[in-house]
Amino acid sequence: MLPALRRDPIGAFTEAARRFGDVVHVRVGPHNGFLVMRPEDIRHVLQDNARNYHKSPLYDKVKVAVGDGLLTSEDGYWLRQRRMAQPAFHRERIAGLAAVMAEAAREMADRWATEDGEPLDVSAEMMRLTQTIVLRTLLGADLGPFTGELDRAWALVNEYIGERFWSLGLTDRWPTPKNRRFWRALAVLDGAVYHIINERRRSGRESGDLLSMLLFARDEETGHAMTDRQLRDEVMTMLLAGHETTSLALAWTWYLLAQNPGPRRRLEDELDAVLGGRPPEYGDLARLPYTRMAIEESMRLYPPAWGISRQAIAADEIGGYQLPRGWLVFVVPFVLHRMPACWDDAERFDPERFTPERVAARPKFAYLPFGAGPRQCIGNQFAMIEAHLVLATLAQRYRLSLASGPPVEPWPLITLRPRHGIRMQIERRVAQYHQRPDAVPT
Ligand code: HEM
Repeated sequence: MLPALRRDPIGAFTEAARRFGDVVHVRVGPHNGFLVMRPEDIRHVLQDNARNYHKSPLYDKVKVAVGDGLLTSEDGYWLRQRRMAQPAFHRERIAGLAAVMAEAAREMADRWATEDGEPLDVSAEMMRLTQTIVLRTLLGADLGPFTGELDRAWALVNEYIGERFWSLGLTDRWPTPKNRRFWRALAVLDGAVYHIINERRRSGRESGDLLSMLLFARDEETGHAMTDRQLRDEVMTMLLAGHETTSLALAWTWYLLAQNPGPRRRLEDELDAVLGGRPPEYGDLARLPYTRMAIEESMRLYPPAWGISRQAIAADEIGGYQLPRGWLVFVVPFVLHRMPACWDDAERFDPERFTPERVAARPKFAYLPFGAGPRQCIGNQFAMIEAHLVLATLAQRYRLSLASGPPVEPWPLITLRPRHGIRMQIERRVAQYHQRPDAVPT
C-alpha cells in the first residue's frame, strides 16, 4: 500500500476498510500490519493491551525534532516523564492559563477589525493564533527577541516533518538544501529553548507557565528534576504537538460552520444569549455547550490527528486474527469517525451528536480525536479550552464565509491540513440580543 498511502492515505485506508471489513492486513513498504476498525479491537490495542505496543516507526520522523519527549518515548522512561508532566495539565492549572488564551484571541479579533476586507486564509490565521498561545502558555513572556525567528524556524520544521511522514527516509541524512534548511531551523529552535531554560534556572522564578511546572516537577521515586535535555525534548514536543492540531480543529470548524448556516446560527445565538456582547472568559465555557459540540463534531469529520499507529512488541490476537510480533497496527480516526455502524448520516455536520445523552449511547472508542488509553493526548483539556475560547471570542464578533479560490481539500500529512488553505471572507456581526430577551445585559 505504500504508493497508495503516499498518494492518498485516507482514500487508501477508507477503501481497504470498505472492501475488507473490520481487520485488514496491509503491507506498507517493508512493514506488515493490520488496519483495525472495530471500537472493541481499538480498545484492545490502545488501552487493554497497550503495554504490548510501542509507537510505530513512522514516529521516528518526529523524533528527529523532539527527541525523547512524551509523544515518542516508551515504557518506564515515558511513564516517569508523563507522571512529572501530568500536574501541569490539570484542569485548574489550564484554567489559570485561559486568560492568556482569551487575550490572544481578543488581539486577533481586534486585528481583524483593521483588515481591508480582503479574504484571509483562516488556516494560516488560526495557526498564527495557536502558535502565539502555545508559546505564551508554555514559555511565558520570555520570548522577546526570539519571537520572529522562532516563528519562521518553527514553520520550517513543521512543514519538513509533515511532508516526510510517509517517506522511507532514505535521503534524510543527505546534505540536500531542504535537509540543511531543516537542520538550521532546528538549531534556531534548540538555541532559543535552551536559552529560555537557562534563564529560568538562573532566576529561579516560578512564572505560572507550563515550563515552570516542568522545571519544578520532581520524579516521585528518585526526587530528581528533569535535566536540560529532558526539558528541551518535552518543550519541543509540546510545541510540535500542541499548536498545529488545535489550529486545524479551529480552521475546519470555521469551514464547516460556513457551509452549515443552521448550526452556525445556533452557535451565534448561544454566544449572544450567554455573553450579551462581553468577551468570553473561562467561567463562561460551561454555559456554551453548543460551541463546544461544534468543535467536537468538526474533529469527528476532520480529526487533526487523522491516523494513529503502533508496533506490536509480542504477537497478539486482534478480533480473532493472529498479529505477529513486530507488525504494525493502524487506527484511523478519519475513517472510524465516518463508519455507518456508529454514525447515522455520517457525512452530515451535526453538533447535536455530542449531547451528553448521545455520547453515552455510543461506544467510547468510536470517537478518538485525542487517541485513547495511557498514551491519550496529555493536552486534550488544554486544546478544548483553547479552541472553545477562541471560537467563542471570534464567532461572537465575526461571521466567516467561504471566499472564491482553490477548493478546500483535506491533506493528510502527520496532521490533517487543508491543502490550499481555507480562504474566507470575514464580516463583522452585531450581537442579536432580541433572540433571547432574558439574556440582554442590564
Ligand atoms: C485539537 C488539538 C489536539 C489534538 C487533536 C491532539 C491529538 C493527539 C493524539 C491523537 C495523541 C495520541 C497519539 C498516539 O496515540 O499515538 C496526542 C498525544 C499527545 N499530545 Fe495532543 N492533541 C492536541 C493538542 C495538544 C496540546 C495542546 C498539547 C500540549 C500543549 C498536546 C500534547 C500532546 C502530547 C505531549 C502527547 C503525547 C502524550 C503521551 O504519549 O504521553 N496535544 N495528541
